[in-house]
Amino acid sequence: DKDAANGEKETLIMATNAEFPPYEYHEGQNIVGIDAEIGAAIAEKLGYNFQIDDMAFDSIIPAVTSGKASFGMAGMTVTPDRLESVDFSDSYATGIQVVIVKEDSTITSVDDLLKEGAKHSVGVQTGTTGDIYASDDIEGKGLGTIERYNKGADAVQSLATGKIDCVIIDKEPAKAFVEANQGLKILDTEYAVEDYAICFAKDSELTEKVNGALKELVADGTVQKIIDKYIKA
Ligand code: ARG
Repeated sequence: DKDAANGEKETLIMATNAEFPPYEYHEGQNIVGIDAEIGAAIAEKLGYNFQIDDMAFDSIIPAVTSGKASFGMAGMTVTPDRLESVDFSDSYATGIQVVIVKEDSTITSVDDLLKEGAKHSVGVQTGTTGDIYASDDIEGKGLGTIERYNKGADAVQSLATGKIDCVIIDKEPAKAFVEANQGLKILDTEYAVEDYAICFAKDSELTEKVNGALKELVADGTVQKIIDKYIKA
């Protein structure tokens, strides 16, 4: 084909943190998940090779702004703060922040975490919106302390062994982590509803191209097919 005749195609490098099932996680040597597959489909549509670089969640935006990665895709929530350093694609999914507790916890709603006199220890993954909410609403108001972990799974492990009182994290990974541990549950009340999008260096010409590819992949059902493969209704 044309690309082979011209020599190599350029490579799109996706920065992610593959500790976030079902969006990105390790399966043997491979990184799989919704973002991994949508990212690969975008690269294919635009005629690039595709590579995933796994890193700490809070290294993704620096990797993108320094040009080490072409874009960041990691179940990443669009926030006003992040918009100061990166541009975001159109949103491709909704994220919901939930609270995981032990089945017998005295915390029964999000309100219990935020009410006067509360004193809980809250686990989060460093640099995530869960971290930001807990920092502002709980630690910042003297309503408890935060334990920050490199991986969401480590926070949940800590909860399972009784070192902390709850974990604030995105709903889909929460479901996966609760399933993998015994005696945990997700509170019925939700903490926040968010938009996931792909981030780019500011003014990158890739943003528009990726939005174009994403639109086509939504229109032809590819995105929904990938989501349905990983999230059972
Ligand atoms: N949606 C949250 C955020 O943007 C958490 C994302 C964590 N993603 C990951 N791959 N670990 O802050």
